[in-house]
Amino acid sequence: MAETGNPGNGATSEAGPLVVLEGVQKHFGSLHVLRDINLNIDRGEVVVVIGPSGGGKSTLCRAINRLETIDEGRILFDGRPLPEEGRALARLRSDVGMVFQSFNLFAHKTIMENVTLGPIKVRGVAREDAEKRALELLDRVGIASQAQKYPAQLSGGQQQRAAIARALAMNPKMILFDEPTSALDPEMVQEVLDVMIELAQEGMTMMVVTHEMGFARRAANRVVFMADGQIVEENTPDEFFTNARTDRAKDFLSKILTH
Ligand SMILES: Nc1ncnc2c1ncn2[C@@H]1O[C@H](COP(=O)(O)OP(=O)(O)O)[C@@H](O)[C@H]1O
Ligand SMILES: [Mg+2]
Repeated sequence: MAETGNPGNGATSEAGPLVVLEGVQKHFGSLHVLRDINLNIDRGEVVVVIGPSGGGKSTLCRAINRLETIDEGRILFDGRPLPEEGRALARLRSDVGMVFQSFNLFAHKTIMENVTLGPIKVRGVAREDAEKRALELLDRVGIASQAQKYPAQLSGGQQQRAAIARALAMNPKMILFDEPTSALDPEMVQEVLDVMIELAQEGMTMMVVTHEMGFARRAANRVVFMADGQIVEENTPDEFFTNARTDRAKDFLSKILTH
C-alpha cells in the first residue's frame, strides 16, 4: 500500500501533511459556503468534522476530492495542488475514498461487482486478483457471505460496510466519510462505526463528518467544529466535548446532547 518514498522528480512527498487547505473560499451564488478554511490533515490522522446542518461540511469533503471546485485559496493533496482534470484527477479520486450518507452502491451490481469495479476499470487489476482482494476486504468488514447479493438484499449497515470495502479496494491514501451512519437504523450504527474505528487504529487517514461522539472520542485525533462555512473551533475530542470554548459550539453541543 505504501509508496516508495523517493523524494525526487514528481514523487509523493512523504513528509508534511496529506491534505492542506489554505484560505479556501467557496460560494454557491450569493451563498458563501466555505469562508477562509485553513486546515491540515496529517498522515494517519483522524479528523472528525462536526457542526450544524448547512454549515459546509459536505462541501468541504467534496472540495477535497474535487467534486466541487473552489473560488479562492488552494488545496494540496500529498504535497501537490489538486489536479484539474484528466488522469491526474482520476488518480486523485481513487486516492481519496469516499463513503456518503446514502448508500452509494450500484443497485444493479452485486456486492462483489461493486467492490471490484474500480480496481478492474481504474487500476487495471486482473479480475481474479480483484475478486480475491475483494473477498478479503468483505471478510474484514464482516460481510464476505453477502458477496453475491445485490445491495437491496443487504441491511443498511451491511451496505455501508460494503461501501467501506469498496473504498478500501482502491488502496486509498485517505477516506472521507460524510455522515456514514446518519441514514441507518439505530441498531446498525455501531457495526459501521466499529469498522471505522478499526481502520483508524490501523492508521488510515480519515476525515469523518459525524455527530457520533463515541466514535470521535475513541478514534479521532481532532475535532473540527464548523458552522456557517467557517471553522469555529478545533480541539481534541475530550476537550471539545467537555470544554467547548465558543458559544456557537456550546449551543450546538447542548442540542445534540439532549437527545
Ligand atoms: N450544489 C449546490 N448548489 C447550491 N447550494 C448548495 C449546493 N450544495 C450545498 N449548497 C448549500 O451550501 C450550504 C452548505 O451545504 P453543505 O456543505 O451540504 O452543509 P452541511 O454538509 O454542513 O450540511 C447549504 O446552505 C446548502 O444548501
Ligand atoms: Mg452534509
